[in-house]
Amino acid sequence: MTILDFGCGMGFFSIAAAGQMGDSGRVVAVDLQQQMLDVLRKRADKAGVGARIRTHRCEADALNLVDEALDFALAFYSAHEVPDQRRLLREIRGLLREGARLLLVEPIGHVTAKAFARTLDDAVDLGWSVVDRPRIRWSHAAVLEK
Ligand SMILES: C[S@@+](CC[C@H](N)C(=O)[O-])C[C@H]1O[C@@H](n2cnc3c(N)ncnc32)[C@H](O)[C@@H]1O
Repeated sequence: MTILDFGCGMGFFSIAAAGQMGDSGRVVAVDLQQQMLDVLRKRADKAGVGARIRTHRCEADALNLVDEALDFALAFYSAHEVPDQRRLLREIRGLLREGARLLLVEPIGHVTAKAFARTLDDAVDLGWSVVDRPRIRWSHAAVLEK
C-alpha cells in the first residue's frame, strides 16, 4: 500500500501511518519546505520507520510527482495553504488508483464552512465523489473518492 501525506509538515501523520503499515507499506511525504522534510526524516529514522517513507519537496503550485499509484491520500490542514486548490485536487486525483480516497481536513480557524463547501463543489466538478463527512474536532473534513 502506498499513501500520500500532502503538506506533511514534521510528519505527525506520515510517521504514525508508516508505523501501521508493515515493511511493504510506503508513505510519500510531500511538503513545500525542505526544513520540514529534514525534521520528518530525522524523526522517522528515530522511530524506526525511515525506510518506509519517501520525502519529496514540491513546488507551491505543483506536486511534481509522476508515476505514483496511490491507494490513499491525506491532506491535513494543508490544502488551504495552496494557491490553487483546484489544481491540487486535480493533481492528487491523477495520482490515485481508481476507487482510492483522499481525506481532506481543514482547520475551522482558517477555513470558513462556506469556503470548505466551495472546495467540495470544485472537487465534485473535477470528478470526485464526496463519500463521507467525518466529524473531527476543530475541523471541516471530507472523504473524497476517485
Ligand atoms: C499546518 S501545517 C500541517 C502539517 C501536517 N499535515 C500536520 O497536520 O501535522 C501545513 C503544512 O503545509 C505545507 N505547505 C504549505 N503550502 C504548501 C504547498 N503549496 N505545497 C505543499 N505543502 C505546503 C507547510 O509547509 C506545512 O508544513
